[in-house]
Amino acid sequence: MLSKVIETALNEQITIEFESSQVYLAMASWAEVQGFEGVASFMYAHSDEERQHMLKLLKYVNERGGHAKVSKLNAPPVSFGSFKEMFQNLFDHEVMVSGKINNLVDITLKEKDYATHNFLQWYVSEQIEEEALARNILDKLKLIGGDKGGLYQFDNNIKMLTVETTDNL
Ligand code: FEO
Repeated sequence: MLSKVIETALNEQITIEFESSQVYLAMASWAEVQGFEGVASFMYAHSDEERQHMLKLLKYVNERGGHAKVSKLNAPPVSFGSFKEMFQNLFDHEVMVSGKINNLVDITLKEKDYATHNFLQWYVSEQIEEEALARNILDKLKLIGGDKGGLYQFDNNIKMLTVETTDNL
């Protein structure tokens, strides 16, 4: 059985994961209307992944005798400046999420909820991967700069990356 403190904290994380899914969906749509199919499919896949993160938490809360809440979400931005700015935004967002997960882990220790502590380890590893991926993409974009041909090539390459990432799900 979850304590009220843990239940509330996990419910907050459900909202964060759901909002992450919304942010990446908005990025996907923005990239799509600019004609960058690769970046759009990467973001659509990433948005789906975040929805899975949200569902995994939701099911865990209910399984442990809590009640997962589906709350109102903040609307994400409509446009994202440039790819570099968008991926910087993605990286910053993931760093924020990692901080929230770490905070949750801390709460489980204080509450002596070792089952939830164990459950959250999956999220800890996932955040390491997501931050590394975002950093890697940002490094590539910094190299490309404003070069149009480079961006076209980047769009093609990220399409392959999406296939690999989705295969690893
Ligand atoms: Fe589910 Fe990217 O944090």
